[in-house]
Amino acid sequence: MIHARIAGTGSYLPQKILTNFDLEKMVDTSDLWIRERTGIEQRHIAADGETTVDMAERAARAALDMAGCRPQEVDFIAFGTTTPDMVFPNCGVLLQARLGCRGAPAFSLETACSGFMYALSIADKFVRTGEAKRALVIGAETLSRIVDWNDRSTAVLFGDGAGAVLLEPADSPGIISTHLHADGTYRNLLYCGGGMDLSQTRRTIAMSGNEVFRVAVGTLGRAIEETLRANGVERSDLNWLVPHQANLRIIQATARRLDLPMERVITTVQEHGNTSAASVPLALDTAVRAGRIKRGELLLLEAFGGGFTWASGLVRY
Ligand code: UT7
Repeated sequence: MIHARIAGTGSYLPQKILTNFDLEKMVDTSDLWIRERTGIEQRHIAADGETTVDMAERAARAALDMAGCRPQEVDFIAFGTTTPDMVFPNCGVLLQARLGCRGAPAFSLETACSGFMYALSIADKFVRTGEAKRALVIGAETLSRIVDWNDRSTAVLFGDGAGAVLLEPADSPGIISTHLHADGTYRNLLYCGGGMDLSQTRRTIAMSGNEVFRVAVGTLGRAIEETLRANGVERSDLNWLVPHQANLRIIQATARRLDLPMERVITTVQEHGNTSAASVPLALDTAVRAGRIKRGELLLLEAFGGGFTWASGLVRY
């Protein structure tokens, strides 16, 4: 029986940092409000001309380096993003050309903040059936390009960045299980127009923050229970929670539900803001490179975002 394991992780953050104090000069907000309500202190912003695929390439090469895998050996690319460089070719294909792994299937999917988790779930299945051997899974976003910088209720939340993992076949499960969900009846609580439905005139992120918050806490609570139950795993078996980084208060609520002290929770929202599909792989890579997450440890990953879409997974790193 073939399983998939994480052979390497990588991430990239653009150089430019936008602090809460910078935002105080742009909209009617304060560092104190942003920190108290979200935990966010700063976020990274892509340079002019820097794209989602530019950032993804840096993250992908870092993951490949860690895994000792040459770019040409990649034979599958699943790319989660809501801020693609182009309508087509998709970001996976654009990345494939840069890595030089010609012929490898490559696609992107747009499930907002759950994009990386959806991509991970699909890539895992291809590795487990033997159809892929070196599967690159990406989450990358340039959300700064779809933020209304005059809207204080959303401008303070989001950031840019990219994260990547490389999956390889293994004898024992690395990706133990993934659980994907969606409920499109919530479409109006968090959305961004700009697609081909020209009646959707709002081309920047719109969010009913309070309602999203409430649904996110409840839904993520149920998602983590589902993952534990599906695997017969106790809360106390977990080494780390690697959550979607939208709001520190949502993360704390999820940790409480798991009886997990915050020392066992990876939080990068303070430095990265909400990077949507990039947030989970960015948090994972940050923790791996800091020597916090170690080989053999048991991780619970989760994400929740526009749609709504949500996902969780159990991973033996
Ligand atoms: O990644 C996808 C999933 N996204 C999320 O999970 C985000 C979920 N939502 C949230 O994280 C929170 O709802 C927010 C951080 C967006 C907002 O926090 P909140 O505690 O829910 O605040 P609120 O929206 O209820 O607003 C409270 C007050 C309002 O003023 P009044 O009506 O009480 O006078 C807002 O106008 O705070 C005001 N406000 C601000 N004040 C200063 C809203 N944004 C700001 C701001 N600075 N940036």
